[in-house]
Amino acid sequence: MITIKSKNIDFYYFSGTGNTFLVVNKMKEVFQGKGYSVELKPIEKHDASAVNTKNTIGLAFPVAVFSTYNLVWDFIRNLPEVNGTEIFMVDTLAGYSGGIVGPLRTIVEKKGYTPIGAREIIMPGNIFFIAKDKENDKKVRKGLKHAKKYAKALIKGKAKWGKVAILPDIMNVVSRGGLWLTGVNLHQKYLKFKVKESKCSKCGLCVDLCPVSNIKMEEYLVTGNECEYCMRCVSFCPKKAIPCVFNYKGKTYSAVKARKLLKDD
Ligand SMILES: Cc1cc2nc3c(=O)[nH]c(=O)nc-3n(C[C@H](O)[C@H](O)[C@H](O)COP(=O)(O)O)c2cc1C
Repeated sequence: MITIKSKNIDFYYFSGTGNTFLVVNKMKEVFQGKGYSVELKPIEKHDASAVNTKNTIGLAFPVAVFSTYNLVWDFIRNLPEVNGTEIFMVDTLAGYSGGIVGPLRTIVEKKGYTPIGAREIIMPGNIFFIAKDKENDKKVRKGLKHAKKYAKALIKGKAKWGKVAILPDIMNVVSRGGLWLTGVNLHQKYLKFKVKESKCSKCGLCVDLCPVSNIKMEEYLVTGNECEYCMRCVSFCPKKAIPCVFNYKGKTYSAVKARKLLKDD
């Protein structure tokens, strides 16, 4: 029994270091195997107001500080009002999301979407303590199994998008506004990434990768005030020239090669 109404799925996603990218690709594989046409669309390269409301919409993003990134929230807030377009979401996280699922459901329902499924998938952490490669590989394999199951559940109409009624109000506020990342923005003021000039080869990869064009090539690379802390520049720098104070022993994590995140699909 196939229950997603539209055979076309536009899957909008943001991925800082590749975990979410792997998840959406796995889900795409399952959908395509069942005859769906799926387009993967990076959120940072698409205008939410221009989504095709005849297609099923998928949303995928990483959890960041019990919320998600500004650019993801902006995209969601700018989605057009519709009359029943089906929508599903998936987020990836290292362990605890706070409670993004409930508030997001409220937002999309208010816009007229029919929520058909939400799932949170544990993947390796990409900040603070970075685990050993072997451990991370195991987590990725497990996460992708869950992604596969979730896509199958969506197809069968068995996925759910719960309300998470027990969410404390405070978490709700954090999830909506992103207290630290999107509200107060302390990280943009006091914890700005600084390029180590002695290490930087000026290859410009970080400029191309930054989803909010916050890195500019001047005499040396300079970062502006729009950083989302997605870790792309830190994790993919081939010279490890962009340190993050939170990364224990300077270790970094990425799940894919940088070029995968530069492509349109
Ligand atoms: C700034 C920042 C904040 C994060 N906050 C959380 C969090 O609150 N809870 C959690 O479980 N994981 C958190 N993580 C981990 C990521 O959600 C997780 O590693 C995710 O799978 C990364 O996806 P990506 O590779 O697609 O960017 C955070 C990561 C970053 C960079």
